[in-house]
Amino acid sequence: MKLLKTALVACAAFISQSAAAQQLTAWDSLALTPPMGWNSWNFFEGKVSEKVIMDMADAMVANGMKAAGYQYLVIDDYWVGGRDRQNKLFPDTERFPHGMKYLADYVHSKGLKIGIYSDAATLTCGGVTGSYGFEELDAKTFASWGIDYLKYDYCNAPEDVATAFSRYHKMGDALKNSGRPIVYAICEWGPRKPWLWAKAAGGHLWRTTWDSRDVWESKNKDLTGIMDIFNQQESLANYAGPGGWNDPDLLMVGLYGKGSSSSVNGRFKGCTFTEYRTHFALWCMLDAPLMLNLDLTKMDAANLQLLTNKHLIGINQDELGKQATTILRRGDLQVLSKPLKNGAIAVCVFNRSDKPTTVKLNLKKELNVWQPVTAFDVWKEKNYPKAAVLESNLDGHDCAVYILTKAE
Ligand code: GLA
Repeated sequence: MKLLKTALVACAAFISQSAAAQQLTAWDSLALTPPMGWNSWNFFEGKVSEKVIMDMADAMVANGMKAAGYQYLVIDDYWVGGRDRQNKLFPDTERFPHGMKYLADYVHSKGLKIGIYSDAATLTCGGVTGSYGFEELDAKTFASWGIDYLKYDYCNAPEDVATAFSRYHKMGDALKNSGRPIVYAICEWGPRKPWLWAKAAGGHLWRTTWDSRDVWESKNKDLTGIMDIFNQQESLANYAGPGGWNDPDLLMVGLYGKGSSSSVNGRFKGCTFTEYRTHFALWCMLDAPLMLNLDLTKMDAANLQLLTNKHLIGINQDELGKQATTILRRGDLQVLSKPLKNGAIAVCVFNRSDKPTTVKLNLKKELNVWQPVTAFDVWKEKNYPKAAVLESNLDGHDCAVYILTKAE
């Protein structure tokens, strides 16, 4: 009986998810392209504070990230102080001395948006107060503070999909009734296949994976590294599109083992710059939300240049909203392709091996791409008119990204 109920819920949600995909609503329009921003998890965790968020907002404006398209500053777990006598949530008063409205006003004054975190149970993953039973009140409170984005977690909640759907739906409705447009990020990590029902629950993005760790590949199902996550995304491409996105978790780029959760308290030492560059390029190809969590006030030039690369961001934010799929797999070579709105195609040539290699791909014969074509190399910012073969010199775990445009 329980199984039948679960199947029916997933089925009904899926039907409305497919219908929703055809007709965009005003609610969908809050995330017509994948959200871009920063989240306090991994690097700041329990030390997140008003000062941290203000510093990040200042940095985002000063270092060109805002101009590149980054918009949201999301306060993750550990901001809650408790509920007052009217059951209204209030923040930890030491770390958020002026309250959330003050902070939201500051972030808005910088032309940015602010996000917050809660959980569909009485306690969050970190063990502070969650929203279960207070969805309407909390959504209205968030709206009154000027919150623009809610990440809604699922720790301490029942495991079955029917309950998850109903709890997420409840908060989705509460947000819709809150009087403020609030992007809704569903975070149940993937075990209940949220790509089938999260959009019907009101979600604009849904985590497809357990928390990302700052390691290239861990091969341990409980500690997902970048490749472990990447390998799970391929089959989900059809569920993403304008208004609703698969979310393969925060970008590890630039953490270099410094986040305590992502490094599992120092067990993982982080990745090389080449690996972070590939991670970013793959997440752009996958139409993933681009959420950073490194300290924006201490970024090195290479990571800043990477994370503000206008060509990669253009691929990620392309209005067509088509998640990349694999068009060629040969040993350690993987080629992904993503159609773009203007008729061009983004192609990522990815060397999964840890050894360097040179890859030559015949565009017509091997990738089935029209001729003549102009290939634009995103790293080199160089055009190759009438390209017949793509030649990429790749380090281990490296990739090249091209934008292919039909030539006259
Ligand atoms: C879960 C989520 C993380 C983060 C933490 C906070 O693990 O998946 O992204 O929000 O909770 O405690």
